[in-house]
Amino acid sequence: MIKIKNEKQIELLEKAGEIVYDTHQELKKHIKCGITTDELNDIAESYIISQNATPSFKNYHGYPKSICTSINEEVVHGIPSNRKLKNGDIVSIDIGAYYKGYHSDSAWTYPVGDISEDKAILLEKTENSLYKGLEVIKEGCTTGDIGNAIESYLKKYNLGIVEVLVGHGVGSELHEPPDIPNYGKKKTGPVLKAGMVIAVEPMINLGAKEVLMLEDEWTIVTADGKPSVHFEHTVLVLKEGFKILTKR
Ligand code: MF3
Ligand code: CO
Repeated sequence: MIKIKNEKQIELLEKAGEIVYDTHQELKKHIKCGITTDELNDIAESYIISQNATPSFKNYHGYPKSICTSINEEVVHGIPSNRKLKNGDIVSIDIGAYYKGYHSDSAWTYPVGDISEDKAILLEKTENSLYKGLEVIKEGCTTGDIGNAIESYLKKYNLGIVEVLVGHGVGSELHEPPDIPNYGKKKTGPVLKAGMVIAVEPMINLGAKEVLMLEDEWTIVTADGKPSVHFEHTVLVLKEGFKILTKR
């Protein structure tokens, strides 16, 4: 069952979304060569707690940290560590905040110093694909319409759309129904209604779509070792359109 949120719940989801957005803005200032992903984790955790929220990911199915930091060929769920960011890296930062019973979830991929043209194109096209997916959202659209919009936009760039990981509903649980694939056919899948809240999150590879899990049982990497990026917003479905909750 896909939950429809009431006005009070939407207010809390909006607040949770603002906290996630503000945490991204805070971290952005610190993304430079030499900083470790543990340091980024700690900055995010302190900021979220200062806003009377808690990090959604910490202890989620045993996840050990407060954010995910996925570098280069790491697709998602990279665990912060003493690894330092270096010039030319790209780092996907995934942040969740839980505020008064409601979650919000947003990921963004950032360049570190000067990055290759290939990586820059991958960043640009994937960010664009997220907005292409969002633009079709309104009451009556289907999850397949969203996936189709993302896939259709990306078709001409010959990138790998990760299929085994998908977006999701968001609410009192971090992951709620429905799944939101980043590919698909129009008019397939569940129909969305006003008041539903979903996270749309294309994960796109410079090479093939195949991914593997590392021995830490969290980090997902591309099978061919090529870079991958991740952009995610949590959005509210409206009668006419949508509202991005993870921004201001
Ligand atoms: N934003 C991530 C997702 O939707 C959630 C990561 S939770 C973690 O898959 F615990 F795995 F970090
Ligand atoms: Co998510």
